[in-house]
Amino acid sequence: MSEPADIAAAASILRNGGLVAFPTETVYGLGADASNPAAVARIYAAKGRPASHPVIVHIASAAEVPRWAREFPEAARRLAAAFWPGPLTLVLPRAEGVADAVTGGQDTVALRVPGHPIALALLAAFGGGIAAPSANRYGKVSPTRAAHVRSEFGATIDCVLEGGDCAVGLESTIVSLVDGEPRLLRPGGIPRERIEAVIGPMAGSGADAPRVPGSVKSHYAPAAALELLEAGTLDARVRGLRAEDRIAVLSRRDAPAGFGGRWFRMPADPAGYGHELYAALRELDAGGAARILVEQVPPGPGWEAVEDRLARAAARESPESP
Ligand code: TXA
Ligand code: MG
Repeated sequence: MSEPADIAAAASILRNGGLVAFPTETVYGLGADASNPAAVARIYAAKGRPASHPVIVHIASAAEVPRWAREFPEAARRLAAAFWPGPLTLVLPRAEGVADAVTGGQDTVALRVPGHPIALALLAAFGGGIAAPSANRYGKVSPTRAAHVRSEFGATIDCVLEGGDCAVGLESTIVSLVDGEPRLLRPGGIPRERIEAVIGPMAGSGADAPRVPGSVKSHYAPAAALELLEAGTLDARVRGLRAEDRIAVLSRRDAPAGFGGRWFRMPADPAGYGHELYAALRELDAGGAARILVEQVPPGPGWEAVEDRLARAAARESPESP
């Protein structure tokens, strides 16, 4: 765990236009001073991410919203009161002076108060907004441990704060409140049902949602090809597989007797599953899996974010053959 001295040093790196990777309760973020366009440009360069993609501004509390957003509608206030600090990002009309580097030139800004003590301590020590996408290379799986960040970026990041294993493990839920009609732009750490209990039904996500990088078809992808299969199809596929086939399986059931590959028994509840998913995918990549077979998760409340990330991880443009 990072100490107060590390946090003070990280805040001064931010003030000097540097990059700091820091833990949040969802995934690790790669942060820069949100009011310094040159610093934000360094995030894009480090990630290899197109500059037109907007980033989330992390703030210390809802009291900071007016500095970034020109409107804070009633529904957004209620969501902030219910879920901040926490895994919810609100997209609001941007305030004057918010850098295009942060908004991707759009008239909106994405804001979140993260629910992790180190992220909050960093925000308090820094005193401003921290622009931060997930701390992974563009299109890759988000990091849920400091070691993931270090293995992906090495020395190109000025500082990596250590905050242990991220409790949620999937990115924040993104809700847009820009035109009077709340919209779910990305399912995430807070299930749709809990948000709708506060503000009523939301439109999206899916084809009608505005295009955001998280909605690019192939995203959050491991290096190995990933296939989503019904339980029965999975059982048929794994019969007779040998270790040298380098097939790995993610399932909510136990491995069948005699299975030769790597088998991850995933938690049966969506929160537990989401917590472990990215770490499992990274471990399989590191272990040299050629193909990952994933048992479909059940439809129903709570599974939307896991289902979304699995579908994106499976949607590779050119899957390798097994
Ligand atoms: O949990 C999270 O949200 C993590 C942690 C670090 O906070 N961050 C994260 O950032 O997932 P990133 O950049 O990987 O994903 C942020 C998503 C992107 O899909 C981006 O397009 C969208 O938020 N976004 C940012 N600003 C937006 C805006 N003004 N309008 C619509 N979408 C926006
Ligand atoms: Mg990301």
